[in-house]
Amino acid sequence: MPDVTLVGVTDPDRDRAADLAATVGTTPADDVDDLLARGVDAAWVCVPPFAHGEVEERLAAAGVALFVEKPLGLDVATAERVQAAVHAAGVPTSVGHHWRSSTVVARAHEVLAGRTVRLVTATWLDKVPPVAWWAHRGSSGGQVVEQAVHVLDLARLLGGEVTAVHAVVDAAAPAGGDVDAATAGTLRFAGGAVGTLAATCRLAWKHRAGLEVYADDLALSITEEQLTVRDGGGEGGTWTVEVDPAEARTAADRAFVDHLHGREPSGAGTVVDHAEGLRTHRLACALADSVASGQPVVLGG
Ligand SMILES: NC(=O)c1ccc[n+]([C@@H]2O[C@H](COP(=O)([O-])OP(=O)(O)OC[C@H]3O[C@@H](n4cnc5c(N)ncnc54)[C@H](O)[C@@H]3O)[C@@H](O)[C@H]2O)c1
Repeated sequence: MPDVTLVGVTDPDRDRAADLAATVGTTPADDVDDLLARGVDAAWVCVPPFAHGEVEERLAAAGVALFVEKPLGLDVATAERVQAAVHAAGVPTSVGHHWRSSTVVARAHEVLAGRTVRLVTATWLDKVPPVAWWAHRGSSGGQVVEQAVHVLDLARLLGGEVTAVHAVVDAAAPAGGDVDAATAGTLRFAGGAVGTLAATCRLAWKHRAGLEVYADDLALSITEEQLTVRDGGGEGGTWTVEVDPAEARTAADRAFVDHLHGREPSGAGTVVDHAEGLRTHRLACALADSVASGQPVVLGG
């Protein structure tokens, strides 16, 4: 981006910091203090789920704007602590829910305007990602918190707030890990709609990640690559929009930079601030809590 100067990269793994710095044309920094000493307006916090908290708190206290990768932590308490810190510091934030910056999601939002959503079915059917921390619940938070949180965020965007959830799992862990093999959850929306979440990490390939949304005489199917809409009863037509998923990732970053410059974002790019990301994180954690307790969980109470 021509209006951005990269100041540095820091990572406890010095080799990784040096590699990324060389790739993007900057230099590695020893630690967050070294980064701050260089004069930073904004930081992208791309740490694994277990490492959230202190990094954001230190950057926010220094007045640095924060783009924070999802999930916002392993639990709600850490994310609430960070939310309190960014609120107290008054720094701009955005969360890596880049699906919201996709043209297909913007079109889905338009198509649903004025319609009453009845049913939302969210799926994340995938392999275990290659990063070592992912298969361990104590490091990643599990598949729903770490991965399906993207489609839960869309479920909130398109279906409205979720007021109650209940989930069960097949707890057979993948080799070398302890996360669940599969999760089946139900969602109750404030507007009266109902929904489901189905997730598994026991495939050898990414099979499907997406969301179906149904209203009266209207069916939408949304993935990172495509929106398919069938509208208008028996005589209605079906149409499809396709996108390059990389566009939404870039658009999310661009929208944050525009926000820092005080400009309106261009295209579908949008900022999802930390408070909004926290609402989605609470939903994902509520599903995990329901699994742990074996009971439905009421949100927002
Ligand atoms: N929005 C998206 O679609 C998307 C895509 C990829 C990754 N992510 C998220 O980004 C996060 C990182 O994923 P990844 O695949 O890059 O993981 P990774 O393990 O490849 O990289 C994480 C890096 O963070 C470093 N790290 C650990 N603790 C740190 C700390 N306290 N301070 C600074 N650095 C620290 C690690 O050394 C490592 O180099 C995850 O939460 C993941 O969900 C989001």
